Amino acid sequence: MIKKDLIKQIEAYLVKKFKEPNKRLKHIYNVKKVASTLGKIYNADIPSVVVASYLHDATKDDTNEENIELASNLINDDTPKACIHAYAAHNLAKTMFKIDDLDILNAIKFHCSGRSKMSMLEKIIYVSDFIEEDRPFVTTELRELAKTNIDKTVYLIMVQTKEYILKNKQEFSSYTEEAILFYKKKAEEFDD
Ligand SMILES: [Fe+2]
Ligand SMILES: [Fe+2]
Repeated sequence: MIKKDLIKQIEAYLVKKFKEPNKRLKHIYNVKKVASTLGKIYNADIPSVVVASYLHDATKDDTNEENIELASNLINDDTPKACIHAYAAHNLAKTMFKIDDLDILNAIKFHCSGRSKMSMLEKIIYVSDFIEEDRPFVTTELRELAKTNIDKTVYLIMVQTKEYILKNKQEFSSYTEEAILFYKKKAEEFDD
């Protein structure tokens, strides 16, 4: 399916599922907005950016049971509860929308934990999810940094996320742990 039709199909699905005005749908649109801006700056494929933005949290308001069932082939003991929806959304993209583009699927799957060596699309979705305009805890500096140094932005977001997770005694993904080391090195390279 060409992406334009796919995007229309996903839009219709989201509007029907979330019924505006809806906080989750607003977040999804906000992610799409900032991700599209970053996509242009970093020469990403914009239809892919839109598809990944639209679907990244498509199952987040479903029940835990529904998410676990949909994601059952992907989750294991290392998957934080807070990230199961990302795996479920990945499977929804595959089954309901027949998406087979690995980059889009990975951007959805890893938008919560992040990981080392992310593609540009993955980084754009990961960063946009955190810095979208309704996030009150994000500084203007970080929003600006995202436009010039996406690797350092990924690193700073991961550090902030880790602090939050540890403070709130939540589970922490080994993907994020590994990625922090990876992007710390990248950020230092840039500072040299
Ligand atoms: Fe999410
Ligand atoms: Fe999100």
